[in-house]
Amino acid sequence: MKIGIFGTGMVAQVVGGALMARGHDVQFGTRDVAGTLARTEKTGMGSAPFSAWIKDNPKATLAPFRDAARHGEVLINATAGGGSLAALASADPKDLAGKILIDIANPLDFSKGFPPTLSVCNTDSLAEQIQRAFPALKVVKSLNTVNASVMVSPAVVSGDHTIFVSGNDAAAKAEVQRYLGEWFGWQRSSILDLGDITTARGTEMFLALWIRLYASTKNPMVTINVLQGTTAAR
Ligand SMILES: NC(=O)c1ccc[n+]([C@@H]2O[C@H](COP(=O)([O-])OP(=O)(O)OC[C@H]3O[C@@H](n4cnc5c(N)ncnc54)[C@H](OP(=O)(O)O)[C@@H]3O)[C@@H](O)[C@H]2O)c1
Repeated sequence: MKIGIFGTGMVAQVVGGALMARGHDVQFGTRDVAGTLARTEKTGMGSAPFSAWIKDNPKATLAPFRDAARHGEVLINATAGGGSLAALASADPKDLAGKILIDIANPLDFSKGFPPTLSVCNTDSLAEQIQRAFPALKVVKSLNTVNASVMVSPAVVSGDHTIFVSGNDAAAKAEVQRYLGEWFGWQRSSILDLGDITTARGTEMFLALWIRLYASTKNPMVTINVLQGTTAAR
């Protein structure tokens, strides 16, 4: 399948690499192709610069965001949350119309240091902002609550753990649940459909806890399992 990934950071590299390993035709989108290929410092998350990564993954193609949007039958948003709307705005609207966008981004604002704050929360979310700005897209929020390695290889965490999907389009959510299984090995029993796109508020705000879990455990593979009890007898 042709997949367009908005982004060149750690998530784009890990998710894109996993998709290419499964034979998908992936194009990565960036603001400035020459600038991204010239950058030699590590990404903010400490992964290799895209310029080094693409040398090891020569089948990958890098293009302006606009071209990656055209390329993808399915689109993935792996941009910094503060840049997601701008990145998507560079696409030709006809290249977004009717397509699924798997939105992995979180609206984290590191401008005042650690811990980051959320640039949108409580009564709104980045996923909703994207869905409102691009109504012809079928936005499905998912994978944003786990580290990139866990996204593509849930078995790196032993035992059951939960991944969420949020979105307004039931068929698009069903399709994404299928992709999570076929592409990355998520068991259907581990995928929890939270409901419409407003439920992304919860998974984005979960980052406030995830960042503290990471800081206290020093383990980037930290994640959660949703357990459900039965109604207790009184
Ligand atoms: N790292 C993880 O394990 C992890 C886990 C869960 C969710 N997430 C979320 O996934 C997203 C990607 O994370 P990441 O760590 O891979 O990389 P990141 O450093 O958060 O984002 C890198 C990407 O964002 C783009 N970008 C930054 N500012 C922009 C702007 N003003 N306009 C347009 N594009 C802009 C960059 O474009 P250029 O290519 O042009 O530089 C680059 O492709 C983030 O929203 C993050 O919160 C990350």
